[in-house]
Amino acid sequence: MEFNVKSGSPEKQRSACIVVGVFEPRRLSPAAEQLDQVSDGYISNLLRRGDLEGKAGQMLLLHNVPNILSERVLLVGCGKERELDERQYKQIISKTIANLNETGSMEAVCFLSELHVKARDTYWKVRQAVEAANSSLYTFNQLKTKKEEPRRPLRKLVFNVPSRRELNLGERAVKHGLAVAKGVSLCRDAANMPPNICTPVWLAEQAEQIAEQYDNLNIERVDRDAMAELGMNAYLAVSQGSANPPMMTLMHYRGASDDKAPIVLVGKGLTFDSGGISIKPSEAMDEMKYDMGGAAGVLGAMQSLAELQLPINVIGVLAGCENMPDGKAYRPGDVLTTMSGQTVEVLNTDAEGRLVLCDALTYVERFNPDVVVDLATLTGACVIALGAHASAVLSTHNPLAHELINAGEQSSDRAWRMPLWDEYQDMLDSPFADMTNLGGRPAGTITAACFLSRFTKKYQWAHMDIAGTAWQGGKNKGSTGRPVPLLTQFLLSRAGEVAGE
Ligand code: BES
Ligand code: MN
Ligand code: ZN
Repeated sequence: MEFNVKSGSPEKQRSACIVVGVFEPRRLSPAAEQLDQVSDGYISNLLRRGDLEGKAGQMLLLHNVPNILSERVLLVGCGKERELDERQYKQIISKTIANLNETGSMEAVCFLSELHVKARDTYWKVRQAVEAANSSLYTFNQLKTKKEEPRRPLRKLVFNVPSRRELNLGERAVKHGLAVAKGVSLCRDAANMPPNICTPVWLAEQAEQIAEQYDNLNIERVDRDAMAELGMNAYLAVSQGSANPPMMTLMHYRGASDDKAPIVLVGKGLTFDSGGISIKPSEAMDEMKYDMGGAAGVLGAMQSLAELQLPINVIGVLAGCENMPDGKAYRPGDVLTTMSGQTVEVLNTDAEGRLVLCDALTYVERFNPDVVVDLATLTGACVIALGAHASAVLSTHNPLAHELINAGEQSSDRAWRMPLWDEYQDMLDSPFADMTNLGGRPAGTITAACFLSRFTKKYQWAHMDIAGTAWQGGKNKGSTGRPVPLLTQFLLSRAGEVAGE
């Protein structure tokens, strides 16, 4: 899909469709007002007759509006003008895109990007519109034998900005939005892929395919033998019950000189988490294919980053592994010696994410990172605490925690902080080893992060639990592409690219 920005008046556009807003009750937006004037009150007449109230998400498609160069006009209900907030804006855009896609307009000029949205500027509105358009057109039909595709799909969308002065801002927003969208789609494709196809090795192959497209992106594989050599015994223990070998994939992006310390992103990549010997109940167990959501997020963010060619060094780590029950599987009671030398008593083989991550986090010490952020669908407790709307951020480094939360706020991919106080550390005490891998039921998200914190002493670090945000269940089951927008925003800010400049 192609996106553009323009600054012009609606009646002068020659397009398949012009999209303008109508507020509740039957109040025309400025662009709708202009169309109404040149068409001698055609639109206001329709509204007076009660064809459209202006409730958020209502749509009315008009043909042959008098004195207008475009073939169609799509009136979009935007709710009460003063109540138009970002959530409503994004919903309206998504619905508009779906409507255009189904009603045969292959291109359109959209004036919704001119509407006033509380506390948001043109850059934000255009960028969010690009991302929302991408999301609402996303399908995962690679594995269907009959693919349903619209006969005349939407191919090109132009966003209008209020003045020529804002064209630059709009173009920048399109560029950033497209990069994020590309990363989000890639993340969703990888995460939606079934676990018989999406294995740890498959993840490495995906990373390789992306790296082939960019000169300054290179892949390194750490396979089972290399892990054994390094003493990554916790990571290996999780994988030992699986026929699919583990694979840790490193994606090296070089956008700055070699002496600049890299930002390291580590993603939990459990391509399937059955729970192992501490097996999960079978209800919705299929959803544990999404347990590689952290790795998928890193993969997507690396794609966005390479697309933007930001002047920073970043290393993405996909910690690929599968957790299965088997005669060879690790068991509750086992004591593992991690790469760091610390020992762990396994009390539950379903608390496997932290075991894979602890060794990956020790491994990345060798890069002398500027900061390390790990992303993981780590705990069911996080879904209970924050539901589907916010990812959790846990960090002992306040500025880094704030940076991530701000990035989430700006990119509409929000995160919320949870404490990581020392008081919680005792819950990991073990009579037989340095710690257990299980903190008990209370504060499950925090004790999981406490566990990781013991392996991240050598650098600035933050952990994000994305268990509630990475995918949605139910009728529209599927990966959400989160936290790619947050991560990309974080990298944009780190590269000094501020939204409005
Ligand atoms: N991948 C799961 C966490 C999860 C569960 C994410 C449900 C999303 C939905 C993780 O490996 C896990 O099983 N965690 C356990 C930890 C417990 C055994 C300490 C959990 O949350 O129940
Ligand atoms: Mn588990
Ligand atoms: Zn898991």
